[in-house]
Amino acid sequence: MHVTARAWSSSANLGPGFDAFGLAVRAFHDEVTLRRIPRGTRMITDGSVPSDPARNTAGLVVARMARMFKKKGGLEITVKKGVPPGMGLGSSGASAAAAAVAFDRLHGLGLGPDELVRCAGAGETASAGTAHYDNVAASVLGGFVIAGEGVVRIRPPAGLRLCIAIPDVRVPRSKTRASRALVPKRVPLADHVSNMAAAASMAAGFATRDPALIGRSATDVIAEPARARTVPGLAAVRRGAVRAGAHGAAISGAGPSVIAFADVSADLGRITAAMSRGFKSAGIGCRTVACAPAPAARILP
Ligand code: HSE
Repeated sequence: MHVTARAWSSSANLGPGFDAFGLAVRAFHDEVTLRRIPRGTRMITDGSVPSDPARNTAGLVVARMARMFKKKGGLEITVKKGVPPGMGLGSSGASAAAAAVAFDRLHGLGLGPDELVRCAGAGETASAGTAHYDNVAASVLGGFVIAGEGVVRIRPPAGLRLCIAIPDVRVPRSKTRASRALVPKRVPLADHVSNMAAAASMAAGFATRDPALIGRSATDVIAEPARARTVPGLAAVRRGAVRAGAHGAAISGAGPSVIAFADVSADLGRITAAMSRGFKSAGIGCRTVACAPAPAARILP
């Protein structure tokens, strides 16, 4: 008996929504297969992520769910990575989401969306040091999510497209932890007001299906300035994207990728080319993806 679940990559924060906003993006996906074995936990990965279940997001999610729901018996966990780790595209969140959805199905738990997100959030501790739910909520539920006390999901506008530039830089395994340490713990009231207004505008942009309002609201005066030095070329990438027709851009999650927001009618190739030139101006190569928002995690037939 085995079950495979697929979950998509995601972009967190989207500018002003640090640790609260997430958007599932149809750029890459992970697959997690759970297979019953007589005893113990066996983990199979491609080597790009830890194969020790206690250090792997999918392994942590499975262990936690087994404890929570008192499910005994051995499991083989196979993680097929599609989401590049450490690039700010919710790699650990996608594995965690796929693991939670697969575990839920394997044991016929019938968990609701909030419970699935909470279970998947356990996996984020492996990479970030603290559980944060923006990436996992997006990968579990698809679309745009606001992760607060509960999770709010809003279906993104059909005409929204994302242009993502992924720089060719080496990132340490503890990148998310290090990048989170840069974010100030206290902020001036004026900065809080600015981010709050931008976040509210962005949520309104999703609710009213307005890609231009979404992109224009992708501004952050708190986390992004503190992290800017970890994304060399950020200003040039953003400027290039906007000049080429994007409505706005932000660091994707904890970086180093950058995500730009555009209409389906924009010349997406022109936007991604401009983003590449932005990174090139800082001496960095990159690959780019233009994609739509992604749907929820699902069980594969
Ligand atoms: N919200 C998180 C951060 C996303 O910015 O640190 C990291 O995956």
